[in-house]
Order: sequence, then structure tokens, then C-alpha cells
Amino acid sequence: MTIQYNHSLLPYNTFGIDVKAAAFVEIDSIETLQEVLKSDQKRPLFILGGGSNMLLTKKVNALVLKNNIQGINIKRNYKKSIHVSVGGGMNWHSFVLWCIKYGFGGVENLSLIPGTVGAAPIQNIGAYGVELKDVFHQLEAINLNTGKLRIFKKEDCQFGYRDSIFKRKLKGKYFITKVVLKLSKYPTINDSYGAIKKIIEEASIDNPTIKDISDVVIKIRSSKLPDPKVLGNSGSFFKNPVITKSQFLKLQKAFPNIVFYDQPDGKVKVPAGWLIEQCGWKGKRVGNTGSHKNQSLVLVNYGGATGKEVKKLAFKIVASVEKKFGIALTPEVNII
Ligand code: EPU
Repeated sequence: MTIQYNHSLLPYNTFGIDVKAAAFVEIDSIETLQEVLKSDQKRPLFILGGGSNMLLTKKVNALVLKNNIQGINIKRNYKKSIHVSVGGGMNWHSFVLWCIKYGFGGVENLSLIPGTVGAAPIQNIGAYGVELKDVFHQLEAINLNTGKLRIFKKEDCQFGYRDSIFKRKLKGKYFITKVVLKLSKYPTINDSYGAIKKIIEEASIDNPTIKDISDVVIKIRSSKLPDPKVLGNSGSFFKNPVITKSQFLKLQKAFPNIVFYDQPDGKVKVPAGWLIEQCGWKGKRVGNTGSHKNQSLVLVNYGGATGKEVKKLAFKIVASVEKKFGIALTPEVNII
């Protein structure tokens, strides 16, 4: 194990923010992590995955543990499904491509999501009608206080919309070493999301495969969402707000074109991107930052932006949405 001091985090966050970590170490196995935990470290610990869901606004005065645990192993091979165990530091999209290559279905709608496998359960990643929880079996994580391994079953994780116990009660307390997912050997595809259905129909694909769905998702994402390698960003900056039916009906009277999705519990989800666009932010640049021209929910770094600059813009957006619609947007990314 090599601890590096005063180490730049620029290559490790997709927003492309240049701040330093007081100390930094790559964790490539449980043993390395346990060794770090046993060493006489006085600093607080900070877990880093793919750095694709965070905005760094200041120096990280901690020992940063960069999850680099790799490996894909089939743990159980059933008649119709498999349980596959994946290292927490593995790149999520590389894992999705592995599934497509071997014909294991369940994660194709989650193609091209940046970040690591270990970070996926933390915010229960989701896209195009599928969430991580739909394929989740269990995970293994190390308690950073005791160094002990704990298994978390699905119900232990308390998954919700972009939410889990690891974002709340257990925030920063467990380092996810492995995630076990249940995949199908006889996949049924999910093309319920409008844009996917449309592209499949236009291409006259009769019996779409998981590869077709993955290709379509990659096409949609690439056309709407900026590539972090080209333009720094962390995907959706805010969550889509969920409001009560009565609040929604009042809004709909004032804004008849409002886009909305009825929720199973009677509440209504409103796309934050629509609210932000209505406030005039779409494609607007403020200094080195701005709201993206194709998807206003994505805040971008045009180069050299500081985390504070992006945070300031985010606050302005929150204030204008609140003023116009009476809805308080909450960030989806972690502001550090
Ligand atoms: N819209 C606008 N203007 C915009 C953006 C969106 O009017 O600038 C409206 C459109 O009507 C559109 C609707 O919002 O039909 C929904 O937009 P989109 O399909 O792009 O999805 P989203 O709700 O903005 C969510 C996730 C994305 C995920 C997509 C697809 C959240 C916070 N975001 O975005 O996830 O890829 O659905 O499933 O739930 C992420 O989490 O980082 C992320 C990119």
C-alpha cells in the first residue's frame, strides 16, 4: 500500500474539479483496506468510487480510499439465472458490456452510466425504466470502524429513488468491496421507456435483444448527455421532485404544459429538467459553468470551473425554481 500526500483529485472526478486530498490510497483488495485501517491513521476516511456523482468544492482533508477492487465471478449458476459477484471498483459500463457479451440480461438499460459497481447501490442508479435494485442480490462491505466484513441483503439496503441506507444512516461508514447481482439467462427486454420504443420501432427491429437495447440506450444517452471526458459533469445534478397530487393540480392549472409522471403511491413526479428549462436556464453559461444545452438538469464545467462556482449556480437555479413553481429541488450529487 502506498499513501500519497497532497494528491490532486482532478483525474478522479467527472466534473473535472481540481482540488487536493490530504492523503490518497488505492484499495485493490480487502487485505489492503484492512491494512490501511490497522495502520495508525489519524485522519478521517473518505470513500471514492468513480467520482461521477460528486461536486468537490474544497480540499478533502481526509485519507481518500479509492476503490479499485476488480473482478467478475459467477457465484451461482441456476437454470434460468446466475448470481454474479463483481468487484466494487470495477467500471460499471465495462461490467454491463461483459453481461451483453455473454447474454446475461437485466442491466442493459443501465448502459453507459458513469461510475463504479460499488457506487451503484449507494444511490440505486437508474435509467430508462430500470433501477439497480431490480437486479440486486446482496453486497459485501467493510465497516471502516471495525474492519469487519458485513453482508447486506436487498432489504438491508433500504433502496428508494436514487437512495439507499448508504446515503443516510450508514453514510461513509461502509466500503463496498463486492456487489452480487442476479441476471437472467433468458432475458425479457424492457422497452417501456418511450424513447427506446420509438428508436426500436423506427429501426424495424422485431425481436430486440439485450444488445439492441444497450445500443439504443447508448445512442440516447450520447445524444442528450455530455461525455464527461469532453465536458465535465456529474449527470443529473438534482433529483426529480415528487409532489402531492393537490400541489400538482394547482401547478397544472397555472402551467398546463407541465410534464409529469403519476407515481404508484398517488404522488406525482415532475422532471426537474423541465422546471429548470422553464426558468430559462437551459444552455445558459455563467462563467466557466452552466446548464447543458440538451438537458438542463445537467450542470457542466466548461473548463477550469471551481466547485464553489458550480455550487453557486446550483443555488441560483434552486432559488428560481422555488420562486416560479414553489418546488424545492434537492441535489442528486454529493456536494463535498
Ligand atoms: N425535460 C425538459 N427540459 C430539459 C430536460 C428534460 O423539458 O432540459 C423534460 C422532457 O419533457 C423530458 C423529461 O423532462 O421528456 C424527462 O427527461 P429525461 O428523459 O432526459 O429524463 P430525466 O428525468 O431528466 C432521469 C434520470 C437520468 C436518467 C433518465 C432516463 C434523475 C434525476 N435523472 O432524467 O439519470 O438517465 O431519467 O431514465 O432521475 C442521473 O441520475 O445522473 C441520470 C442521468
